[in-house]
Amino acid sequence: MPLLAEESPEDGGLGCLEDAAVVVREGRVQWMGLASDLPRQWVSEKRISADGRVVLPGFVDCHSHVVYGGDRVGDFCRRCQGESYEEILSAGGGIHTTVVVTRRASREELFTTASQRLHRMRAFGTTTVEIKSGYGLDLETELKMLEVIRDLSAREPQKIMSTFLGAHVVPREAASMEEYTELLVDKMLPRVHQEGLAQFVDVFCERGAFDLTSTRRIMESARSLGFDLKVHAEQLNRTGGAQLAASLGAVSADHLDWAEQADLHALAAAGTVGVLLPSAALFTGAERYPRAKDFRAAGVTMALATDCNPGSTPAENLGLVATLGCVQLGMTPAESLRAITVEASKALGLQGQVGSVVPGARADLVFLTRDVTDPREIPYRMGISKVDGVILEGRSWCPGSGSVGAGRDAMAKPSMLTAR
Ligand code: NIG
Ligand code: FE
Repeated sequence: MPLLAEESPEDGGLGCLEDAAVVVREGRVQWMGLASDLPRQWVSEKRISADGRVVLPGFVDCHSHVVYGGDRVGDFCRRCQGESYEEILSAGGGIHTTVVVTRRASREELFTTASQRLHRMRAFGTTTVEIKSGYGLDLETELKMLEVIRDLSAREPQKIMSTFLGAHVVPREAASMEEYTELLVDKMLPRVHQEGLAQFVDVFCERGAFDLTSTRRIMESARSLGFDLKVHAEQLNRTGGAQLAASLGAVSADHLDWAEQADLHALAAAGTVGVLLPSAALFTGAERYPRAKDFRAAGVTMALATDCNPGSTPAENLGLVATLGCVQLGMTPAESLRAITVEASKALGLQGQVGSVVPGARADLVFLTRDVTDPREIPYRMGISKVDGVILEGRSWCPGSGSVGAGRDAMAKPSMLTAR
């Protein structure tokens, strides 16, 4: 089976191996290489045969908002009649609409709907998901969202990373951005830290959300508490969020549709990953997209993510986002595949742990359908899932009619084929 491993220049950096084998022990990759080189000690171990299928590392969705109440079909209809995302937000709709419903929603409702989204993402090959809070905007609801994320992390088989996005927008009841910023810094961040509910802190640095001064204040305070940083930067306008992210050593700056050369050089110098979200740009009718060639020239690491959320993009299919990375941003298909695997892992500080098949990494593998011979069919087959089955932490899980493990050397214990 060809298998996407480490970077190799011959195949656009995909690192494909023909007739490969992976040894998995206790949910981790123990060894990988050519099947003909398989060390003798493992030759007689229980096997899952890929039966000639292409196998890739599990996909990594490094930016999502999958925990939320309700939907935004109403916003969508308004946008289809010409109102912009920004206009709807500044008129008190958009994110604010979701905040009202999320505050009212029970934990069970939030858990169930997010779990269904994660289930569908898994069928598309996604085995790691970052999830943000940000539809509470008060301590109680932000904690509720983060606790739901924690429960998802405990009960779903995907690897889940949690981000506190209390600074998504200023809630309608706050007197000013400054007042809400103080609440974030004085009360919310310390409490989230104390409860150990998030690894990252993110800020929506944008006109109508948080300006540069407030973004800096929140991020510096988060950093001093030990959080890793992320920023929604230069999405709808160029506001300086990317250079701020770089100067504070953020792990990623996300969106970047309006980033300029100087921003890209700052990100590259700081090692801050650029997380590009073309489905959000497409769905909101953006007039401008990031250009992969500029990122490449500046040396910025490019990751892709769905940004799955009720407003700017309800996308769940990372394969489709890879397609958009190619056709809208100008990535090569190989680049787009790296951007949903190994580069995305860097946006979560998880390099070597997810997104590549290397010893020590979580054994998360995607098996493509038998008709696929080239992994670049993932971006090519626009919106069509070619995922036949997924292995999460060494356990098989088959979407739909998938039959991973049912081939010639099927696993001895069919019970292992059930979802966890
Ligand atoms: O990444 N830009 C801010 N946050 C989300 C949108 C959230 C929403 O509209 O509900 C984004 O696009
Ligand atoms: Fe987002």
